[in-house]
Amino acid sequence: MKNLVSINDLGKKDIVKIFEITDRIKRGGLKDSMKDRRLALLFEKPSTRTRTSFESGMLMLGGSPIYLDTKTMQASRGETYQDTSKILSLYTDIIAARMNKHSDLLEFAKASDVPVINALTDLEHPCQALSDIYTIREIRKDLNGIKLSFVGDIATNTANSLLLASTKLGMKFSMVGPHSIKPNAEYLKKARSQGIVSISDSLKNGLKDSEFVYTDTWVSMGEESIAKKKKKELSGYQVNKKAMSYASSGSFFMHCLPAHRGEEVTSEVIDGKSSIIWEQARNKMYVEAAILVYLSSQIRK
Ligand code: CP
Ligand code: NVA
Repeated sequence: MKNLVSINDLGKKDIVKIFEITDRIKRGGLKDSMKDRRLALLFEKPSTRTRTSFESGMLMLGGSPIYLDTKTMQASRGETYQDTSKILSLYTDIIAARMNKHSDLLEFAKASDVPVINALTDLEHPCQALSDIYTIREIRKDLNGIKLSFVGDIATNTANSLLLASTKLGMKFSMVGPHSIKPNAEYLKKARSQGIVSISDSLKNGLKDSEFVYTDTWVSMGEESIAKKKKKELSGYQVNKKAMSYASSGSFFMHCLPAHRGEEVTSEVIDGKSSIIWEQARNKMYVEAAILVYLSSQIRK
């Protein structure tokens, strides 16, 4: 069974195919491609965009989404991930799950009889990275050699997925953050085997020649107890007008959202002309719909 638990589950060809399907869906195509199909959306953590964009994407393709909050399920009373997964496989055709621990999602996916999509874990956010790179592709057509810089928490889920996806597609990935935060070693090794990655604790050096500047919240879901430490650690890495001035002229600002204006980014930048945050958010719906189509080729009839 092919899943999308990690960007590592996809080759370059798979991603190109997903982008081609996205183009078709954005032009109004593939309308009934998920007809009579059900998508389970299993969420252990809050979500505004990913939940709604998956639901809307599934409806757009003629299918039915079923939202499940684990707090209201037997999983909250100790039912195992394996049993929950087996049960959802009986009732639905495809599952997107947002889980606290990536290892739990791996267990869940192993037990599933239908394709499983990672809707965010502590380690990765693959659907986000694919939507973001699709957004860059809409602006720049050819992704080859484009420098994308990630500023701030360079060990977070979004950074990990962008690191793998961008280098797989021939882009250059620059990580800009404090020495105390180390990128995921295994992912860094993999990314360096397929492309160019730089790491810097200097905004000026790290952002040089960047066409796209990306940041994420300083305190991710589940990190509430270390919020004070993280904010202090990252305080020098706000994306403000000065930081943007280190990037290429005409560079774009990106954020997966939710944003914390005044922390990782200033209002001036996120609401300014260079910001493409709404395009990124809109594309989540189309790219996730394309992922459903792509993975549904293996769904039982
Ligand atoms: N970007 C993103 O995943 O947002 P949500 O947490 O609102 O789904
Ligand atoms: N790194 C963030 C991403 C939110 C979409 C988090 O995990 O909370």
